Amino acid sequence: MKIIKKDVLVKRRDTRIVSLDIEAPEIARKAQAGQFVILMAAEAGERIPLTIVESDTGRGAIRIIFQEVGLTTRLLGNLETGKSLYALAGPLGHPSEIKKYGKVILVGGGVGIAEIYPAAKTLKQAGNRLTAILGARTKKLLILEEELKKLSDDFYIATDDGSCGRKGVVTDVLQDILTFHLRPSTFDLIYAVGPIPMMRQAAAVAKASGIKTIVSLNALMVDGTGMCGCCRVTVGGQTKFSCIDGPEFDAQLVDWEELAKRNKSYLEQERHICKLLIR
Ligand code: FAD
Ligand code: FES
Ligand code: MG
Repeated sequence: MKIIKKDVLVKRRDTRIVSLDIEAPEIARKAQAGQFVILMAAEAGERIPLTIVESDTGRGAIRIIFQEVGLTTRLLGNLETGKSLYALAGPLGHPSEIKKYGKVILVGGGVGIAEIYPAAKTLKQAGNRLTAILGARTKKLLILEEELKKLSDDFYIATDDGSCGRKGVVTDVLQDILTFHLRPSTFDLIYAVGPIPMMRQAAAVAKASGIKTIVSLNALMVDGTGMCGCCRVTVGGQTKFSCIDGPEFDAQLVDWEELAKRNKSYLEQERHICKLLIR
């Protein structure tokens, strides 16, 4: 659980995105695209889920990439190389369903780009043609741009302020691509990961095309093994546990309203504790 490499990928006044390579040989040996770990940065801390972005069996290490949004991600971001996490469990969740679909569109918003990267690598290895659409508020917040560009056959960027690629959001680009390639058979799968409004909009944009759209849900998680019920989501009218039934689901079947509401359940407490403990 020792941190063996740390890179601060983005350092802006209001946003820090950090990459950590963590010694975890058993997790590295088993991890597959789409899976995540649950970790505790410190003994008195909480458990949070983070996607396994890469695993290196040679070094016995996994890589996580996270945006500092609250107390635990900031505590984690403050740990330096050589320090150890208090606890780490994984790999958790179902792996992504990787096969030769044909033409796949990958849509990554913000730190969701880190979550589409492992899927992009394995989908490419499986012989798929990849169209990647990455988005961020501004150019300096973009991550893994070169890595995803190399894997992609077609590559698009959207930034809110137009500092890189198209001015707008990733779903504008998705809409354009789907409108341009109006034949529904042109693409075989859409895989979208990012903030809830982005994934919800991707589902709405993709609906008319009839193309299967997969999203990775960022439901609140505690144990990550199906025991606490915290990550309950409604998919196709049925209650699912995102940690053991997901985290990937068919975007058209997700109850987005409920997910958005549940994810705000502890917002007050999260803000309060963060203000108390971090200046
Ligand atoms: P807080 O201030 O406590 O919370 C900020 C927001 O983060 C909350 O409003 C809520 O929406 C979310 N959150 C808080 N606690 C949890 C929790 N226990 N479980 C889930 N969400 C929570 N983020 C990344 O930056 N990179 C990743 O690769 C990544 N992968 C994820 C994979 C999965 C399967 C899930 C469910 C979430 C993933 N996240 C990822 C989101 C990450 O878990 C949250 O940003 C983190 O838990 C925030 O904790 P905090 O204490 O720093 O912030
Ligand atoms: Fe507890 Fe999924 S995180 S049941
Ligand atoms: Mg927290």
